Amino acid sequence: MTQKTVYDHWRASGLSRRDFMKFCGTLAGLMGLEAAPPLMAFGAPPGPSPAGLVAEALASKPLLPVIWLELQDCAGCTEAISRSQSPSLVNLVLNSIAVNYHETLMAAAGFQAESAMTETMAKFKGQYLLVVEGSPSSGADGAYCMVAGRSSLDILGEAAAGAAAVIATGNCAAFGGLPAARPNPTGACGVSEVVKDRPVVNIPGCPAIPEVTTGTIAHFLVLGALPKTDALKRPVTFYGHTIHDHCLRRPFYEAGKFAGSFDGPGARAGECLYKLGCKGPTTYNACSSLKWMQGLSFPVQSGHPCLGCSEPRFWDGGGFYQGQSAPLLTPTAAAAGLAAGIGAAAGAALAAANGAKKRRAGKAVASPRQGSSD
Ligand code: SF4
Ligand code: F3S
Repeated sequence: MTQKTVYDHWRASGLSRRDFMKFCGTLAGLMGLEAAPPLMAFGAPPGPSPAGLVAEALASKPLLPVIWLELQDCAGCTEAISRSQSPSLVNLVLNSIAVNYHETLMAAAGFQAESAMTETMAKFKGQYLLVVEGSPSSGADGAYCMVAGRSSLDILGEAAAGAAAVIATGNCAAFGGLPAARPNPTGACGVSEVVKDRPVVNIPGCPAIPEVTTGTIAHFLVLGALPKTDALKRPVTFYGHTIHDHCLRRPFYEAGKFAGSFDGPGARAGECLYKLGCKGPTTYNACSSLKWMQGLSFPVQSGHPCLGCSEPRFWDGGGFYQGQSAPLLTPTAAAAGLAAGIGAAAGAALAAANGAKKRRAGKAVASPRQGSSD
C-alpha cells in the first residue's frame, strides 16, 4: 500500500485545496523561499512559484515523524507554539507533521508515553526529526535532570543517534539559557555541545518565536534539509538581522532621541529605549520584522527594551536594564549609572561599526546623536 502524503492527510481532515494552497503560500513565506528567476533570455519558461514548490513537495511526501523532548526548561517555547494565534501553525502541527512524542502536549503518560518514543525511534530510524526544548544537564552524572529514571544526556544521546536532524528550540536548548546562568549548578549546556554527529540548528529566544520554530520544521519537511545557518547555527532567514536593523524606534535612535524612563512621554512617543537597556543593536532575531502574535507587536514596540534573549549567555551579560555598554558579568548599580550615561556613545560606536558593515554591503546607516525627552 502506498504511503499517504501530507496532502492526503490534509484532504482527509476535510480541508479544501484552496486552504491547502493558502497554507503552502504561508509556509513558503515563512521559509523565506523566493521565486525561481525565469530564464526568459534563454527562452526557458518561468520556474514554479514558491507556493507551488511547497505544494508539490507536500503532495508527494509522507508525514514527518517528530520527537519533541523537554529537558531543563519552563516549557515556554511549547506554550508559545500552542497559544499561537496563527491557524497556519495549528495546521502545520496537526496536519503536516506527526508529533509522535511530546512530553507536554501528548495525552499519554508513563510507560505508554515512553513506548511511543521507543516505537518512533525504531520504526523511523534515520528519518525522524528531533526537536529539543530545554538544556541537557551534565552535572552530578546527569542527576539534576532525569526522566523515567534516565539522565537527560542519555535520553538526548539515544534520540539524537537515530534522528535525521535536530532542532534546538529556545535559548536553553540552543545555548544553555537560564539553567546555564551563573553559577550553572546543573552543568547546563546547549544541545550542540553534546550532539556532535548530527546536523543541529539553533532557534534561540526566550521563548523562541513560534513561526521561526515551525518555519524551520517546515523547511525540513519540504526540502528535506535544515536551512542555511550562521556561525551560531541559527537560520540566516530569521537571524540574519538585528532587532535594531528593523526597529520601528530606529529613527529616534538616529535622531538621538532616547527615552529616559519607562512609560514616560518619550517612550510613549516612540523614542529609542537604548538608555533603558535595549540590547537590540547586538541581538539577532526576527522580532522586529516577523513580530509576535501574527505580526501584532514585539517587546520594543510595547515599550520594553530588547533583553537580547536570542543571544548566548544573555542572563549573565550585564543587567537587563543597564545600557548596552554595561560591563559584562559585573552588573552593579555603579555600572548601571555609568552605562546609562555613556550608553549613547557606545551606541554611536555600534552604529558606526554596523554602518561600516552595511556600507560594505552597499547600504548606508547614519550615526546617532544623544538626547532625551524625559
Ligand atoms: Fe530599537 Fe533598541 Fe535599537 Fe533603540 S536601541 S532603535 S529601541 S532596537
Ligand atoms: Fe527577545 Fe529581544 Fe525579541 S528580548 S523576544 S530578541 S525583542
